[in-house]
Amino acid sequence: MEAFEPKIVAFCCHFCAYTAADLAGTMRLQYPANIRIIRIPCTGKVDVRILLESFEKGADGVYVAGCLEGDCHYLKGNLRAKKRVNLAKRILEDTGIGGERLEMYNMSAAMGPRFAEVAREMTEKIRKLGPSPAKKAECRAQSAERKENNRPTQSAELRAPRAKSVEAREERQA
Ligand code: FES
Repeated sequence: MEAFEPKIVAFCCHFCAYTAADLAGTMRLQYPANIRIIRIPCTGKVDVRILLESFEKGADGVYVAGCLEGDCHYLKGNLRAKKRVNLAKRILEDTGIGGERLEMYNMSAAMGPRFAEVAREMTEKIRKLGPSPAKKAECRAQSAERKENNRPTQSAELRAPRAKSVEAREERQA
């Protein structure tokens, strides 16, 4: 069996975490290839729906990386994001997916090594947690649908007695 490699989505603010990721690359720092970075203008742009949809679409873990508190270019974007992440964590906990699969980090554009560290930290954590239960539920639904589609249709012989009984009932009613 293949080792589990998680898919992790990172919503990174353009001004800090994304630039830090760039710096990590320039510094040739290694971090796992499991991270899919989505550049956003500010973490304040992230809402609860987007975070939950990421899990629905197959992510095993998600994190939001914004500017340091007090340094957001849109003043309170990262504080709003923090509140939304906490709300989404509670929803994930209630639905059984697990709130620990979602995190919020703050960093400056100069923190390339921190970006690589966070990527490693998150990948290790999700590897230990295993695949997202949302993904497992979707796989079960897909295999049930596949089985349903492959089921042979009722043969004409099996349908015939039913048709006869319908005819008989109609005759009785007439
Ligand atoms: Fe970076 Fe708002 S501009 S979090």
